[in-house]
Amino acid sequence: MDLYDAILGRRSVRSYLPRELDKASIEKMLEAARWAPTAGNVQPWKFIVVRNPIMLDLIHKVSPGMLEKPPMIIVVCSDKNIACKFGEAREYDYLGPVDCALAVENIVLVAYSLGIATCIVRSFIASALSEFLDLPSHIRPELLITAGYARDVPKPPQKLLLKEIAYNEKLTSSW
Ligand SMILES: Cc1cc2nc3c(=O)[nH]c(=O)nc-3n(C[C@H](O)[C@H](O)[C@H](O)COP(=O)(O)O)c2cc1C
Repeated sequence: MDLYDAILGRRSVRSYLPRELDKASIEKMLEAARWAPTAGNVQPWKFIVVRNPIMLDLIHKVSPGMLEKPPMIIVVCSDKNIACKFGEAREYDYLGPVDCALAVENIVLVAYSLGIATCIVRSFIASALSEFLDLPSHIRPELLITAGYARDVPKPPQKLLLKEIAYNEKLTSSW
């Protein structure tokens, strides 16, 4: 699939068929995450693939922003120990989430190219999630990715026009 088509065609899907994802596709999504850019090539991330129905149920219950329980969730976490070993501790709060977000974008685009629907979810109770997954204190869940085969694909949302967000040289000169 053409990259530009994937970028324009991907939608956040919140309703899935009860069909499992195959291991090769999941690995491709994770591999795409592994190759995401990361500040200083520090790679301060962990990707936890959750498919156990009981665990999916628990995560769904503490994630108000997750409409339906999906067949799979990838919990994308930042690792403070790695980030702080290489960089300034004060940068962790910025670079941890930024690096994870870039990996997340790679995952959702590759998923789309494989016919797998996803939704990024930030609305979850991090402390509850950390408890369910036995996460040590240096591992912080940043984002969830729900994934599965789409039951419903929403229409494209309204996006701001280029002239509203892009400029020539200065903010006073719209694109
Ligand atoms: C950082 C981030 C957090 C998000 N959190 C949620 C969420 O908690 N629940 C949800 O349903 N969608 C969530 N979304 C999906 C956005 O609502 C969605 O990307 C936006 O409406 C644009 O739609 P599109 O992805 O189909 O282009 C999140 C997206 C991002 C990038």
